[in-house]
Amino acid sequence: MPRGFRASVSTRSEPSDTPSDRLNPAYSPFLLLRHRQPPVITLDNILDRQQVAATRERLEKCDWARGISAGPQARHAKKNEQVPDDDPQVKELRTLVMRALNQSPMFMTAVLPFKILPPNFNRYTPEHSHYGPHTDSSLRPLPDGSYLRTDVSATLFLSDPDDYEGGELRIEDTYGEQRIKLPAGSLVAYPSGSIHEVTPVTRGARLGCYMFMQSLVKDTEHRRLLYGMDVSLMALRQRYGEEEQDLVRLTGLYNNLLRRWSEC
Ligand code: NI
Repeated sequence: MPRGFRASVSTRSEPSDTPSDRLNPAYSPFLLLRHRQPPVITLDNILDRQQVAATRERLEKCDWARGISAGPQARHAKKNEQVPDDDPQVKELRTLVMRALNQSPMFMTAVLPFKILPPNFNRYTPEHSHYGPHTDSSLRPLPDGSYLRTDVSATLFLSDPDDYEGGELRIEDTYGEQRIKLPAGSLVAYPSGSIHEVTPVTRGARLGCYMFMQSLVKDTEHRRLLYGMDVSLMALRQRYGEEEQDLVRLTGLYNNLLRRWSEC
């Protein structure tokens, strides 16, 4: 990975707080976690408004199709439209999304992506309204003939919640059921093996981009632990600076756990 795995916000800053501030529970680094805890993670502003508008403009030129890219069971549940792989707009759209993901340190540390299947684009309307409960296929062929193991699935929302009624992503994971509907440009990532569905759209149109990823760290719980640790490391580094020796040691521990748990 070009970025390395210490998804550090490397802003140098001198600690300006007092010891009592540090004991104040309201000062927790977890306040930085303004998105959901794994295994279901939401990240805001993966695409900015301009990028969302450009993406939507291209999607309007696409020829949408039904019933593609799903196994027999999923195909039965899948009642939406999708942009076919050979659409002339697809290449540019995929590049835009992949660039945006690469520029998100929080995405990188949450997913620890090893391989990402080229993203696809879908649309739900009252006519093609939903995708019933399913799990994503565990193995997906890649263009080079190899396979990708799906560890993490993600949806990047391209319509604002006011643009449509219904169309929630409902996910059942170990922490219970979650219903997700995010602003355009925001992303949700969740374990591919969880049961999930898109509930029927009854008004408007829900545009989205979805993708499947193989993580360097296969185990969801290991990923969750690493993510929690790295988020705290980022907060501590901002507060105490990069040279704080205990932080150097903790970062070493993070990297050694990643070394132990990753496969590439
Ligand atoms: Ni799915």
